[in-house]
Amino acid sequence: MEKLQHLKEEALQAIESCETLSQLQEKRVLYLGKKGPIQDVMKMMKDLPPEQRPSFGASVNEIKSAIAALIEEKKARLEEIEMNQRLEKEKIDITLEGYQPTIGNVHPLTLVQQELEDLFIGLGYTVAEGPEVELDFYNFERANIPQGHPARDMQDTFYINKEVLLRTHTTAIQTRQLEKHAPNPIKVICPGKVYRRDDDDATHSHQFTQMEGLVVAKDIKLSDLKGTLEFMANKMFGEGRKIRFRPSYFQFTEPSVEVDVSCHICNGKGCPVCKGTGWIEVLGAGMVHPNVLEMAGYDSTQMSGFAFGVGVERVAMLKYGIDDIRHFYTNDVRFLKMFKRFD
Ligand code: PHE
Repeated sequence: MEKLQHLKEEALQAIESCETLSQLQEKRVLYLGKKGPIQDVMKMMKDLPPEQRPSFGASVNEIKSAIAALIEEKKARLEEIEMNQRLEKEKIDITLEGYQPTIGNVHPLTLVQQELEDLFIGLGYTVAEGPEVELDFYNFERANIPQGHPARDMQDTFYINKEVLLRTHTTAIQTRQLEKHAPNPIKVICPGKVYRRDDDDATHSHQFTQMEGLVVAKDIKLSDLKGTLEFMANKMFGEGRKIRFRPSYFQFTEPSVEVDVSCHICNGKGCPVCKGTGWIEVLGAGMVHPNVLEMAGYDSTQMSGFAFGVGVERVAMLKYGIDDIRHFYTNDVRFLKMFKRFD
């Protein structure tokens, strides 16, 4: 009995001094498992006189349940401590200053393109795209520029083979759109990259961006084109802009016009940007040539249309005062960072 008492004290103390749940588990195995000091004492029972066995057994059970009770209690305490330690360790200090994430910029050409798209979408246009690797057929034939026609020289072309080329203008998107929608009315803008065999310098690039507009319906007139372009000029370059048409030549429009916008820097008085003329040449336009309509499947006696093509780089350069087209393509982050869209 004395040994039992001693064992009990030793066990309770050992349990009490456990600092972790895994230490506690070791003690549980030791004192309540199949092999251990208590089991050893139990083996002594057979050597006792029979009348002492019941009270000895009862004592052993009492000790076992005291140990089990203390283990449970200790377990609860250790679990709480460990939980508190974890909460402490995983605590997020919400008073810390946050990181300023680096946010990329929208490229200035994308900005201007989106701005143009938005204003035309507001007028009821839809946006149409087409392939950059294009058939000669849609780029030239359908634009009323047949094989061998001198107008092809105006647009020095990258050919892939005799029939396939890199489109030289977004008019290629137009001719596809006309074919797709004929004989029904159409109102689209066609933005995209175009390619020409130009030597790169401050104002020329072998790859640049155009956006073309096309409206075909009954009774479309040159005055509709003028009103539309005046609206665009005011939105892009500020209120009060005037536009003027000068006669020009494009194979796919008749009549064709070169469109000037009154200078947004000097308001028409004359300055270096407009080279003293008060006007800036911004785009080409005209009434869709009857041949172009007929080839696509329209009856040109019933339907008419206008088309215009604007250089997105040119608009961006005028709008932001950029003096070299190559800035758009050399990806100098200091340049790109200057353009932000505030919505
Ligand atoms: N496609 C012409 C060019 O690239 C621009 C243009 C478009 C002119 C539509 C008239 C009508 O120069």
